[in-house]
Amino acid sequence: MNDYQFAVQTNQLTRKFGDFTAVDSVDFYIPKGEIFGLLGPNGAGKTTTIRMLCGIINPTSGSASVLGYDIKKDSEAIKKQIGYMSQRFSLYDDMTAMENLDFYAAIYGVPRSDRKRRIQDLIDMSGLRGYEQELTSSLSGAWRQRLALACAIAHKPPMLFLDEATAGVDPVSRREFWDLIYEMAGQGISILATTHYMDEAEYCNTIGMMYQSQLIAVASPDTLKNDLPGVLVQVSCDNPLLGEQIADDLPGVMDAALHGVQLHISIRDEKVFPSLKKAFTQAGIHIENFEFIQPSLEDVFITMVEERLKLQNNTPPSQGE
Ligand SMILES: Nc1ncnc2c1ncn2[C@@H]1O[C@H](COP(=O)(O)OP(=O)(O)OP(=O)(O)O)[C@@H](O)[C@H]1O
Ligand SMILES: [Mg+2]
Repeated sequence: MNDYQFAVQTNQLTRKFGDFTAVDSVDFYIPKGEIFGLLGPNGAGKTTTIRMLCGIINPTSGSASVLGYDIKKDSEAIKKQIGYMSQRFSLYDDMTAMENLDFYAAIYGVPRSDRKRRIQDLIDMSGLRGYEQELTSSLSGAWRQRLALACAIAHKPPMLFLDEATAGVDPVSRREFWDLIYEMAGQGISILATTHYMDEAEYCNTIGMMYQSQLIAVASPDTLKNDLPGVLVQVSCDNPLLGEQIADDLPGVMDAALHGVQLHISIRDEKVFPSLKKAFTQAGIHIENFEFIQPSLEDVFITMVEERLKLQNNTPPSQGE
């Protein structure tokens, strides 16, 4: 086993497909035993980043190490020592849960003498006891997910990559799945997880927000939320769509976005609120309720993306006028 301080460390990691840059000069690191969440919309470059780190594809430029191994030179060593679980993780439907575990333990090289014991541990860890002899095809999505996780860590990898591992799973099962992930991090396993679910991002020690192939922010969930400029007001009104348009055009408003039926409006400071209220009234919009709130990670992400788009359009980002 290599000695390493950072489970993952990247340096200007870049991957092109033809003329298209899927991952552009990405820099981040994951201290041993920490959970790093990669967030971003479809096509942002998350899976491509993971595939480079797992040694499946080579970077076009830049470099990275995983568990102290260079991803270009030592990809075979990396592959042996990591766990990788994606949404499309292949379980064999015509085998029982136990047979899948046995199969993956074998292909991941768990010695025959240790296998029985290891599989029992995996069954306990994943809560699959009682389901061992179930045919995999008859397991619910949440149980399949747990089985896939147990298979992915059959060889006790010190580093685990989870690529949208909880997609399509209900919120309660997702929470339970994350409890397992937490436990693993507590045992010193380092984890890189991609997700579209903002609630899952809250579980991570550090979040990397990825957008259009670039990492646009890397920090802890709290830092990201605390560093968001201005204050956020949540408004319930009788015409949120019109309200969004009106707010967006007002001086002192940095961003307005619909969250369900409510509006989240980011303003320079609380002093801007009276003019916002006045503009709504003039437009015939009735404000039913408003509250100054702590931003969510979704608010942070939306604000960061908006800022980036404004920069791309060559208009300087709003300084609150
Ligand atoms: N082998 C490939 N050849 C050409 N383009 C590719 C290839 N793999 C990925 N891409 C492109 O690179 C971009 C990033 O894809 P990637 O799968 O990394 O995104 P992602 O962030 O994982 O998205 P999602 O959330 O949808 O899984 C996409 O535009 C995709 O079409
Ligand atoms: Mg992906």
